[in-house]
Amino acid sequence: MTTITTADNAADPVADAAAPPCPPSDPAALGLRENATFDRTTIAAIRRAALTGLYDIRGGGAKRKLPHFDDLLFLGASMSRYPLEGYRERCDTDVIIGQRFAQKPLHLKTPVTIAGMSFGSLSGPAKEALGRGASAVGTSTTTGDGGMTEEERGHSDTLVYQYLPSRYGMNPRHLRMADAIEVVLGQGAKPGGGGMLLGQKITDRVAGMRTLPVGIDQRSACRHPDWTGPDDLRIKILELREITDWEKPVYVKIGASRPYYDVALAIKAGADAIVLDGMQGGTAATQEVFIEHVGIPTLAAITQAVEALQEAGLHREVQLIVSGGVRSGADVAKALALGADAVSIGTAALIALGDNDPALEAEYRKIGSAAGYYDDWQAGQDPAGITTQDPELSRRLDPEVAGHRLANLLRVMTMEAQIIARACGKAHLLHLEPEDLVALTIEAAAMTRRPLAGTDWVPGLPGTGGAPGGNLGGPGAAPPLVGDQPVARL
Ligand SMILES: Cc1cc2nc3c(=O)[nH]c(=O)nc-3n(C[C@H](O)[C@H](O)[C@H](O)COP(=O)(O)O)c2cc1C
Repeated sequence: MTTITTADNAADPVADAAAPPCPPSDPAALGLRENATFDRTTIAAIRRAALTGLYDIRGGGAKRKLPHFDDLLFLGASMSRYPLEGYRERCDTDVIIGQRFAQKPLHLKTPVTIAGMSFGSLSGPAKEALGRGASAVGTSTTTGDGGMTEEERGHSDTLVYQYLPSRYGMNPRHLRMADAIEVVLGQGAKPGGGGMLLGQKITDRVAGMRTLPVGIDQRSACRHPDWTGPDDLRIKILELREITDWEKPVYVKIGASRPYYDVALAIKAGADAIVLDGMQGGTAATQEVFIEHVGIPTLAAITQAVEALQEAGLHREVQLIVSGGVRSGADVAKALALGADAVSIGTAALIALGDNDPALEAEYRKIGSAAGYYDDWQAGQDPAGITTQDPELSRRLDPEVAGHRLANLLRVMTMEAQIIARACGKAHLLHLEPEDLVALTIEAAAMTRRPLAGTDWVPGLPGTGGAPGGNLGGPGAAPPLVGDQPVARL
């Protein structure tokens, strides 16, 4: 829940004594100091818990500042690298997903895909808009908990069907109607936890699809009912391949917590592609304590996942799709440079559809929120008609207009990634590589194994830390490494 605090000190005796009074909304100007540990947000959370006896549930991803893509920078070409000319030289963006075992891998025109978001959490028009937007640019969209809707299948050229622990809405016929299957083991917002859909969003239609009672809060399972470990995943993937005649790629989605081991096990179980969702990843409804305190940041997870793929000799053969806080073409390019084959967006796609639109400010205020802060996606009162099942609110979203806006966002993200790739001299987005990146913070350097900008230092990597120029392998560079041991330069 988002609480808007407006400090009004008009009745404050300290303020009244001052002449002229300080601006009423500036407590700091009165010499008041907020406690860093017990700040206003913390105080509000403690008061809310004390008054209601309930823990907080909300949508969206982690709000705290975490190491993220912003902590990386690209080394554009200059003398030692040769850039490509934007208006004349090509930089391709297409990506193939699932060619390891599937007879019909997906051919996408952009590596930016739409993440799995359930019907139930989202309205029918929102699902249709996601399908329309993705199809307009030649990329895929994904179902979610609760099954496949006509709106989405009907408007998605390429649709990935999620196979979830809850099995809500699971239908073998829909497995065959999909273009790929995604076995969900977890989400970045809540690794180890299951989904939630509160009673106010369980309408007749949602209840019918999930075989649940109308209007009752639903919590979906955190683990698959018919398997107890990684060996069972192997059997499950084989079952899914048999049902779909070995045609459809099978993805495995994990929430980032121990990505090195989880990716290694998913590869062994026979995944064609792996979806890695970091802790900034959005959710429709999860406990606040889960969102903010469980899992690891997207940035911290990618390198570990890539290392597992490389050690198996399957990097780029088993595709890695990264999600969790992807907002722009720069984020896309950074994820690809670190070794991802594609990315998925959830929150950014909803914003493109119209979520948190400032034009709805007055309506957000009526429900105790504000444009730019709205995250009560669990409540079903969304004035934008996106995270609701209320027929009147849902009708507000025009799927054609919203789909068009999403297509625009996807085009912009793709073009921005191309701009960066060309500046790094790359004729395909997938040619971006770790060597194109440096880190802005010590944390990001340690997590991504990229040197801190302007140095040759990678925290934790022996033999790094030479003089300036080390990034380019120049005279200041640290000795090359064999394994993790520095060796003499010849
Ligand atoms: C409204 C909403 C509903 C979601 N529903 C599902 C779901 O049914 N299954 C799932 O695997 N992930 C679900 N997710 C998580 C997304 O698939 C994805 O992992 C996440 O949104 C990516 O992070 P981002 O929102 O920062 O782009 C949902 C996310 C949102 C925002």
